[in-house]
Amino acid sequence: MGSGIAEVCARSGVDVTVVEVDDAGVTRAEAAIERSLDRGVAAGKLDADERQAAADRLAYTTALADLEGADAAIEAVIEDEDLKREVFKQLDATLPDAQFLASNTSSVPIMKLGAETSQPGRVIGLHFFNPVPVLPLVEVVRSIMTTEDTLERATSFAEETLGKTTIHSQDRAGFVVNALLIPYLLSAIRMYESGFASKEDIDEGMIKGCAHPMGPLQLSDLIGLDTLLAVSQSLYEEFRDPASVAPALLNRMVEAGLLGRKSGRGFYDYSS
Ligand code: 3HC
Repeated sequence: MGSGIAEVCARSGVDVTVVEVDDAGVTRAEAAIERSLDRGVAAGKLDADERQAAADRLAYTTALADLEGADAAIEAVIEDEDLKREVFKQLDATLPDAQFLASNTSSVPIMKLGAETSQPGRVIGLHFFNPVPVLPLVEVVRSIMTTEDTLERATSFAEETLGKTTIHSQDRAGFVVNALLIPYLLSAIRMYESGFASKEDIDEGMIKGCAHPMGPLQLSDLIGLDTLLAVSQSLYEEFRDPASVAPALLNRMVEAGLLGRKSGRGFYDYSS
């Protein structure tokens, strides 16, 4: 999702520095953004000049220190609470004057990230949806320490600069959308696991019966099964609702490295 967020920012005229974990990550991110920009041109969403201008606004690095002097940061590391906390500690030290430090977390309470910083008032959640260039929503999540100024700046960035639609959520695991979506996806996995219906029929049922753009198992593969598992764990930790308990099949698939589209195989095979 980090690539998608970087692409949308660059397409909106923002100079972006993408910080990746290693050189392979840089290569992957750059290739994903180039591919998506090409799709955008093919779809008539931007012309060749705008595409080039967006690509020129993107810089790639593996050093977080290269962010020094940036106006804001949006963190989108994997859904690992300890790692996110560490990143916020580093962002706080690197960007003492940034207007806001945002997290794209799907489920980690924003207050836990703010607590790692010297200025928790400027920490906020900006939760994007996959694929970021296509889906218009951003959830804005204010912690109990986030200031009014930070809320206004981050909301205006999402709405006016990026042209997204925002909704606001309290700082509760899953926020609005994932608190509703994840139990549904887990139910679909349980249905498949129990042999109730085939994966194709479960997906077809929701596409043709409820006009969803994709079925729940296809969507789980798009989100990434590791992310789905991490969000389900955060939801369960917060609400203790059995509907958020991960089915055994999801655990086994993540252990096997079957993470969905990003690994080439999940409920479906994407290797070709
Ligand atoms: N740049 C700009 N526009 C693009 C684009 C790109 N790179 N790629 C595609 N588009 C546009 C297309 O032109 C098309 O626009 P149009 O409707 O104006 O013609 C539109 O996006 C749809 O693209 P496609 O026709 O190529 O693809 P599909 O119709 O097959 O849709 C999909 C693919 C957008 C993935 C659709 O199936 C979908 O919306 N699925 C549901 C996704 C979803 O629910 N995401 C939320 C996941 S939850 C999440 O992210 C939160 C996390 O915390 C877990």
